[in-house]
Amino acid sequence: PQTLYFTRHGESEYNVVGRIGGDAVLSPRGESYAHGLAVHLNELAAHEPLTVWTSELRRTKQTAADIMAPKRAIRALNELDAGICEGLTYEEMQERFPQEFAWRDQDKLRYRYPWGESYIDIMTRLRPVLSALEDEHNVVVVGHQAVLRCMLGYFLDAQLDELPYMNVPLHTIVKLTSYGYKYKLEMIKLPI
Ligand code: G3H
Repeated sequence: PQTLYFTRHGESEYNVVGRIGGDAVLSPRGESYAHGLAVHLNELAAHEPLTVWTSELRRTKQTAADIMAPKRAIRALNELDAGICEGLTYEEMQERFPQEFAWRDQDKLRYRYPWGESYIDIMTRLRPVLSALEDEHNVVVVGHQAVLRCMLGYFLDAQLDELPYMNVPLHTIVKLTSYGYKYKLEMIKLPI
């Protein structure tokens, strides 16, 4: 069977203070996850070859740093671009751009941040990556919340409207194993 692994980057300094987007580095807890992830995956890599795909952002590269496997940084895996709201907290967004905040709440799937992206936009830019992944085995994707919601939603045949609400927790490896058409999902929560 074909196996694919997905994980969010470790907790970042922006996650700690609830800021959207940006290019923050990992928090100490995030670093600890990066270490635990490497220990777990290096064990696997000792038996069969793994490849790691990250985004171009620092937090995913840092999370993958100690994994002993070839790595590719892929721009299409970058987090949802929040445009004018990059770097804000959701509270600040609600204060400064109340109309935008309300629109997003009404249609999170289609809502596009001014100068930024929507979940639908992410699905569009992910198409080539998703097609490529379908032919891969033992790839570890170190990604971001919104992008991983779209990727997992795709493999698990979720409805489009469910995508923005899928649960992809921090500090957890999501393992997908395919048997024919269906993918089986396993969540591996690592102690940090
Ligand atoms: O900005 C990127 C976040 O990871 C996505 O969270 O779409 O639930 O606001 P959200």
